[in-house]
Amino acid sequence: MHKKHIWLAAFLLLAVFPLPACKITPQKDAATHPALIGPYLQNMTPNSVVVAWATPAGSTAVMASDTLVKHVDRYEYHSTLLTGLQPDTEYSYDILQDGTGRGKGTFHTYPRGPVPFHFCVLGDTRTGHDIHQQIVNRIIAEHPLFVVNTGDLVANGNNISLWETFFCINHDLIRNVPYYTVLGNHENDAKNYYDFFDLPGNERYYFFSVGDALFVVLDMEGPDLRAPDFLKGGSRELFWEQISKSYFVKEKAWLENLLSLNDDAGYIFVFFHPTWYSVKSSRVEEAARRRAFWGDIFERHQVSVVMNGHDHYYEHAFHDGTHYIVTAGGGAPLYNTDALQPETIKAEKVHHYLSIDVGDEQTLIRAIRTDGSLIEKIVIPRRNSPGNSAGFE
Ligand SMILES: [Fe+2]
Repeated sequence: MHKKHIWLAAFLLLAVFPLPACKITPQKDAATHPALIGPYLQNMTPNSVVVAWATPAGSTAVMASDTLVKHVDRYEYHSTLLTGLQPDTEYSYDILQDGTGRGKGTFHTYPRGPVPFHFCVLGDTRTGHDIHQQIVNRIIAEHPLFVVNTGDLVANGNNISLWETFFCINHDLIRNVPYYTVLGNHENDAKNYYDFFDLPGNERYYFFSVGDALFVVLDMEGPDLRAPDFLKGGSRELFWEQISKSYFVKEKAWLENLLSLNDDAGYIFVFFHPTWYSVKSSRVEEAARRRAFWGDIFERHQVSVVMNGHDHYYEHAFHDGTHYIVTAGGGAPLYNTDALQPETIKAEKVHHYLSIDVGDEQTLIRAIRTDGSLIEKIVIPRRNSPGNSAGFE
């Protein structure tokens, strides 16, 4: 999202549009369109945060003969960068100041030092809105410092109606907690994604830090440089070599530099959408090709944990000191775990999320089912601490 500072415009629009309760209705009619999306928090640092929201800007009706086939809402996207804040401090804000709670939120700025903090991760929230809502409610109760979604936030990034539902489900979470996103294949590299989110760097692959922990988000989808469907065999491979690959070669060089320059990090967490070790038989080969391209980059740089989505289950693999977790149980239909790998430690076909406590000496990851029960507990040692060792329960 490109920053616009349009408080006044928001007030004027909100004076025109009423504020009905947000409803989860995949097949909406005009009466159920949200009058406001957000507010929501992005891009937190110890001294700043972005507050974002979107307001209606009309809609388009698509007719076939005399029948309405589609009603597409349009939005104006707003954000304001709040600067000059104190680290590790609680603030409240109100984008409407209309005497209601609709425009209100709170946030807690990131700490400067490596103090303990708590965050949550979920993925593939794209369908199964009730499950998504259950997980969001659990995360809200944990009061995390921030949340990461490992991609496939919605079933089709080009469908604005699905984003309306997504923001409706998340409203009570993301007005108080910064939300980081990863590009999934279902985002379809859609303009809507970039309109709504205000992420660091180029917004496709980026990093942020909290205390002395480094968080790296990668884009494994790439811009729309996929080979046309009619290309086959050698032509497809040539298309990848000569057209698509250059994007990932550049991203890989960026990652190599980033990890080299952050060797002092207490923890390094990496996020991308597709899996590193798939235990879904039809995707094992694809994951092997991915590992062949990226090589040993995560292990060589002592990355603490890699977290993925895409395969709708929970899986934990471990290789050469790096943990690989598939957390794609945010709502999408579950897959069978029918191809366990030598690196697999735990796999379960279950909706779930991750609850993570980053501490001075170690990080504790708990994988939690929607009913609150524990799937697995993983202990991650602080980097560069030879006395510590990983543990699983
Ligand atoms: Fe996916």
